[in-house]
Amino acid sequence: MSQSQFQSNCSAESLQIAASKVIAGNLVAFPTETVYGLGADACNADAIARIYAVKGRPADHPLIVHISAMDRMGDWAKEIPTYAIALARDFWPGPMTLILPRTELAQDFITGGQESVGIRVPDHVVARGLLQAFEKLGGKGIAAPSANRFGQVSPTTAKAVDQEIGEYLDPRDLILDGGACEVGVESTIIDCTGDAPRILRPGAITEQMIRISTDISELKNSGNDIRVSGSLENHYAPSAKIFLDVTAQAGQGLIALADIPTPPGVIRLSAPATAQEFAHLLYESLRKADTDAVAEVVVIQPKGDGIAVAIRDRLARAANGR
Ligand code: TXA
Ligand code: MG
Repeated sequence: MSQSQFQSNCSAESLQIAASKVIAGNLVAFPTETVYGLGADACNADAIARIYAVKGRPADHPLIVHISAMDRMGDWAKEIPTYAIALARDFWPGPMTLILPRTELAQDFITGGQESVGIRVPDHVVARGLLQAFEKLGGKGIAAPSANRFGQVSPTTAKAVDQEIGEYLDPRDLILDGGACEVGVESTIIDCTGDAPRILRPGAITEQMIRISTDISELKNSGNDIRVSGSLENHYAPSAKIFLDVTAQAGQGLIALADIPTPPGVIRLSAPATAQEFAHLLYESLRKADTDAVAEVVVIQPKGDGIAVAIRDRLARAANGR
């Protein structure tokens, strides 16, 4: 159980308190529409160092800076290409992170020493309220990685945040409870430092949506010359061993769309009706396997494009284990 305070009431007053805590250099975990983030003042080196300590994350993995609105992009990024403006207009607030050339505000402790910075305007009433209150107090941006220990499954509920990192927080930190995250998988990360967008991490904003928004039909291939911790081969991994697209045996867990039946003796962990619901339930289902000591989990992956691409991306890494 955590030592930090647990705020299930996200009233204007508690958001005000949370914003003051961030300004004072404390950590505040908060819900976004994708997953819960572990937030700190993006201009405060000591607070950022605590994020890395709490997550157990290597210091060269950069953090995403969250802002309340697109018109604050210029604080953090420069030389913003036209196609990135189009993406920001179309999909912010929303589950999308843009990688752009940094300004001096984005120091090495945020970018991992890279010349680019990741920026996102989240779409969640609590995240937006927190950011607005923080900016009113003079804050420029809240850096927030997913609120899990490095390499583990991202939390999509406040309880999961507490289970992941509660013991590493201190009493002045805070976990804001805004219910279960709608999307359930992390934001689409798009590298906007070249002459065409390049997807670094698939998410709810899909390749087709990016093509239509930017009017660029040829996206760049996602090479691996930029450090994205989420692109490590093994990440998003629960304790349970994950098997993809095989028939589940008695004693194993099963995550599959609702129209796929549960074989005898198999523990059904979730039965979503759509790919969207699949994403929404995925991380909680993996957590449930661990809580219920289910050692092996079979996942029948949704086919096709859209959010299914992001689901298969995370599952491929989860299946690689730790
Ligand atoms: O949905 C999300 O994006 C969530 C919520 C909380 O906003 N955040 C999240 O953060 O997933 P994190 O740190 O767990 O994953 C962000 C990824 C990391 O793999 C990081 O390496 C990459 O974004 N990243 C951040 N800044 C970058 C940059 N300048 N260049 C390349 N990759 C960057
Ligand atoms: Mg993460």
